[in-house]
Amino acid sequence: MPIIAAPQDLLESEVYIDLERMLGRKMYMKTEGLNFGGSIKLRSAVGMVAAAERDGLIRSDSIIVESSSGNLGIALSVVAADKKLRFRCVTDARCNAATILVMRAFGAEVETVTEPHPTGGLLQARLDRVRELCANDPRYVWLDQYGNPANWNAHYETTAPEIAKHVPDLTVLFVGVGTGGTAIGCARYFRDTMKDVRVVAVDAAGSVTFGTPAAPRHIPGLGAGVRPPLVDPGLFDDIVHVGEMDTISACRLMSRHGFLFGGSSGTVLSGAVSWLRRHDPERRHRAVLVAPDMGERYIDTIYSDAWVQERFGRPVPPFVLEEDPS
Ligand SMILES: Cc1ncc(COP(=O)(O)O)c(C=O)c1O
Repeated sequence: MPIIAAPQDLLESEVYIDLERMLGRKMYMKTEGLNFGGSIKLRSAVGMVAAAERDGLIRSDSIIVESSSGNLGIALSVVAADKKLRFRCVTDARCNAATILVMRAFGAEVETVTEPHPTGGLLQARLDRVRELCANDPRYVWLDQYGNPANWNAHYETTAPEIAKHVPDLTVLFVGVGTGGTAIGCARYFRDTMKDVRVVAVDAAGSVTFGTPAAPRHIPGLGAGVRPPLVDPGLFDDIVHVGEMDTISACRLMSRHGFLFGGSSGTVLSGAVSWLRRHDPERRHRAVLVAPDMGERYIDTIYSDAWVQERFGRPVPPFVLEEDPS
């Protein structure tokens, strides 16, 4: 029975969903959204704040600041509330209203940037604003999830060893890539400790992370419009790109079985199924996929037929299970 005193103490996830009943193929979905931050980003938040504390960067009057459009902002709001620290989230007009309200409920200060940078868009405008805050007030401590090694290290020290312990006969791991923290931490861990485990990175189609051209994306979480500095593509055995409609189909398949997952989880699920269909027709692999988030924050988007119709101009197709796409 876990008894906790701080919200971030409930961090370890021992919950794996066996997808065999849904997919006809055994694979385990490690469910990372069952904590008080609602996503895997609570691990990164805990790791980055702890590193900043160790480095002596955080004092009682410090104000943690981060540019985030969602889950890291919520996760840092949780940690800051527990530690009685101020947290300022610089977000932009794409951040959904519920996310801002959740952060404020935890006591965070949320600032919304509305004017895009002429070339770097809203993300660059957010980063410029964070730099401006830090330059003008020494109390600000910027954690910088895109460049902070404590981001990937959190997964090297917690997420990956948990998987190795829980599933010792693992042969292939599927991990989504946003900042790259989760995927790089896991890839480094398995390279150092269990070399035979393949680590497959799952990215959103239209993301530039692995050198493919940018295209419009509507679902936050995975993928990036600027190549994330933490990502070293050479650490992965393979890379899979997933289109947004496939993400939505995967989410809808799960929800019709009573599991409401978020967009990143649907993307990783879709990527894992398509990779296994191509590379493991004999079903020899023991596969785990990391599901970063739950579905409530997507109720107005991924789970809304009207939103899908408006964005994509067609209804959601059924999830393709075992047909060979080639
Ligand atoms: C919902 C969700 N899934 C996945 C990710 C990506 O994880 P990472 O930043 O570790 O690559 C993020 C992070 O930005 C996220 O918010």
